[in-house]
Amino acid sequence: MRLKIALLPGDGIGPEVSQQSVKVLNTIAEIFGHHFEIEEALVGAIAIDETGSPLPEKTLNLCKKSDAVLFGSIGDPKYDNNPNAKVRPEQGLLRLRKELGLFANIRPVKAYPTLLDQSPLKRNIIEGTDMLIYRELTGGIYFGEKKINEDATVASDLCEYSQFEIERIAHLAFKAAQTRSNKVTLVDKANVLESSRLWRRVVTNLANEYPGVIVDFLFVDNAAMQMILNPKQFDVILTENMFGDIISDEGSVIGGSIGLLASASVGYENALFEPIHGSYPQAKGKNIANPVASILSTAMLLDHFDLTEEASAVRRAVEKAIELGIVTSDLNKDSYFGTDYVGDYIANAILNKGDSDNYINYENVHLGKSVFM
Ligand code: IPM
Ligand code: MN
Repeated sequence: MRLKIALLPGDGIGPEVSQQSVKVLNTIAEIFGHHFEIEEALVGAIAIDETGSPLPEKTLNLCKKSDAVLFGSIGDPKYDNNPNAKVRPEQGLLRLRKELGLFANIRPVKAYPTLLDQSPLKRNIIEGTDMLIYRELTGGIYFGEKKINEDATVASDLCEYSQFEIERIAHLAFKAAQTRSNKVTLVDKANVLESSRLWRRVVTNLANEYPGVIVDFLFVDNAAMQMILNPKQFDVILTENMFGDIISDEGSVIGGSIGLLASASVGYENALFEPIHGSYPQAKGKNIANPVASILSTAMLLDHFDLTEEASAVRRAVEKAIELGIVTSDLNKDSYFGTDYVGDYIANAILNKGDSDNYINYENVHLGKSVFM
C-alpha cells in the first residue's frame, strides 16, 4: 500500500517520540512491502517562532493532501503562563482538527497485565479494564463563540451542539460497541446543561437503530468518580469535547502512565493520530519521554487503513517491550531506558517478528538495575 503521511512533530517531546514512530513505520514498510512517504511540517510553538502562525498554510495544505497525519505534541510554557498571548500553539491543533473535519477522537484505555502494579489504583480495581472513549472533537465549548468585555473583567465561552454533530459521532460509537461488548455510556451534564439534554435526546433516538447495544447515561461528575472506582463497567464511552478531554486524562491513570495512551482523530475524509499526552516541556531533549503512546497511535493509523496484521505486529512488539521491562522511567524508576532505545527495541522486535532476545543484556534488566540511555 502507498500512503502519504504528514509528520507534525510539534513542541516539547513531540519530535523525540514521533521519531520512534517513524522508525516503526519504516520497519513495517520494509517487512510488509508498503511505501510510506513521510513528509514533515511545522506546527505549534515552533511554527509560531518560525512563521508567526501555529498552523502555517503550508502545513495545512500538506495535511489536506496526505492520507494521514502523525502528530507529536503541542504547547510551550511561555504561552501557558501568559493568558494575554494573542496567538497560542494550541490554536494550531484546534484549527487543524476543524479544517480536516476530525469530529471523532478515539482513545482506548486498557490495563496492561504487566503494568497493573504501576497504577496508583488497586490491581483488583483496574484488572481487565478495556474501554474506548469517543470524544467529540470539533464542537462544544472549544469552538463556540468566545467573548470578553472591554475592560477584560467578564468572559464567556459558548457550548453549542447541533443534532447533526451529535449523530455523526454517536453512529461511530454505536458501531464500535457492536464489535465489542455492546454497551455505550453517554457522559454528560443533562441535569444542568441544555446542550447535554440535546445529546441525551439524540442518542436515545439513535439507539433504536442499534437494538443490540445497551445505552447507559452518566453525569460527568459521577463518571469521573466511576472511572476510578469501577472502570471495568465501561465499554464505549461517548461524550462531548471538554468532558472527553478531562476523563481521558483521568483514564490514563488506569494504564499506569499517560505515556501509554494513543488516539485517533477521524472524520469523513481525513485522519490524524496522536498520543494524548502533552508536550511535557520539562523532558524535552532529555531522551526520557515514553514513546509508546506515539507508537500505539501509529498502530491505530495502520488499523485505520485496514493494515490489521501490521497493527498487531506493532502492538505485539510494544507488549513485549513492556513485558521485558524495556520501558522509560515513568514505568520503572529503578530500571529504565532512553526514548530512542525503547523505539529501537520495538522496531527491532517487529523486524525479528518478536524474536529479538539478543538485543540487550536481560540479566541487568531483571536485576532491576539497568539504565540504558
Ligand atoms: C488533547 C489536548 C488538547 C485538547 C489541547 C492541547 C488543545 O489536551 O488533545 O487532549 O484540549 O484537546
Ligand atoms: Mn487533553
